[in-house]
Amino acid sequence: MEKKLTINFHKCLFISLISMLIFQNVISDEILIEGKKIFLEKGNCAMCHTFKDAGSNGNIGPNLNEIKPDIMRVVNAVTNGIGVMPAFQGILTDSEIEAVSKYVYEKSEQ
Ligand code: HEC
Repeated sequence: MEKKLTINFHKCLFISLISMLIFQNVISDEILIEGKKIFLEKGNCAMCHTFKDAGSNGNIGPNLNEIKPDIMRVVNAVTNGIGVMPAFQGILTDSEIEAVSKYVYEKSEQ
């Protein structure tokens, strides 16, 4: 009796861990898809930056595949602007800034 309970408990734990993992992947995929859309459209990043995953070849700003910025560097540049790059605070929402930053960070590894 006790043994059966333990097995069920482990089964349950296993199933919920697996579904948590799947769920998290779905969420982060969605963020990356949203990030790419912002990169190409609302944020206009593609106009100024070369970035392989987005298929862009702007050359006003640095090639993002070459500088491979970490996520905070992207968040800072996008939020506050840098040099001639405009600040996007107020143009993009916080969650849009987060999405586009995560996208640039993750895809610049490729
Ligand atoms: C009008 C052109 C322009 C647009 C639009 C633009 N950038 Fe930039 N970006 C630049 C320039 C120019 C620099 C280099 C600034 C400097 O170092 O003086 C830069 C720098 C950066 C950097 C490096 C920051 C650092 O710390 O060196 C990142 C990351 C970046 N941009 C990401 C983005 C993202 C993401 C977007 C879209 C939300 C975007 N940029 C939109 C022109 C632009």
